[in-house]
Amino acid sequence: MSESNRRTFLKSVGGTGVALTVAGCLGGGGDGDGSTTTGTTGDGTTGDTTTTEDVTTITPGTASGFPPFEFVNESGDLVGFDIDLLSAVVEQTDGYELGSWEDLEFNQLIVALQNDNIDVVAAAMTINEERDQTIDFTDPYYDANQAVLVREGGSFQPESTDDLADHPVGAQSGTTGKDQMDALVEEGTISSSQANTYENYVLAVQDLANGNIDAVIVDTPVAETFVANRDVVISFTIETGEQYGFGVRENDDELQSALNEGLQAVQDNGTYAELTEEWFASE
Ligand code: ARG
Repeated sequence: MSESNRRTFLKSVGGTGVALTVAGCLGGGGDGDGSTTTGTTGDGTTGDTTTTEDVTTITPGTASGFPPFEFVNESGDLVGFDIDLLSAVVEQTDGYELGSWEDLEFNQLIVALQNDNIDVVAAAMTINEERDQTIDFTDPYYDANQAVLVREGGSFQPESTDDLADHPVGAQSGTTGKDQMDALVEEGTISSSQANTYENYVLAVQDLANGNIDAVIVDTPVAETFVANRDVVISFTIETGEQYGFGVRENDDELQSALNEGLQAVQDNGTYAELTEEWFASE
């Protein structure tokens, strides 16, 4: 199952600004009562928090092209661990239901949250101090480090960041992988013209495979998925000790606590374990 999940994202290059439909409840996680309602605003507006009776519909935002957390599969559906996990979490809450997903560029997510275009970010977003100053996070739900990807079987097999000296490197705009790349520029390991920023990691890995760049810095679980699908390998990892959280607007305390309780509930009832098994179980 997870093998096929890891292999089916190939066609996805990550949409931008398009609201996508979410594939029907995937096996495993959806042992609810089948009454899941997907809220739609119907009039084409998005992001408005609509309240019907006691249920608030929240608009989730993500940035696809980051398998297996969020990607567009061969049928054109937005799928992934984050997509399933957030639905399972929201299903556990009393007062909230999930509206349709907004698929944005990663570096637009925080602004979209602040502008009320979306109400929650589920995008493998690392909890860090800088972001915590502008938005709030739920409790962490996944751990990651950074990995350095290179071409499989190529002559360039760096073992440390020093070995990246004077090689063109790539990362996605606005990410912690990009922060690592910026650090290489600051240290003088690479020049700023050797630091390449991409709209999403699928494009960065394509450029790596094509030989336009020599390395990509990306979160470890995503690097492993690319290794399973492309002619790339992990040459070494950078221990960053990152943790992902769902993002909410500052002071949206009610939603934040509801999501934290939901996260706890899906951990306790086995759904979290089923989803990790489905999306990450080793090859
Ligand atoms: N964890 C990294 C960060 O927070 C990368 C996240 C990229 N996520 C995505 N959906 N493209 O910066």
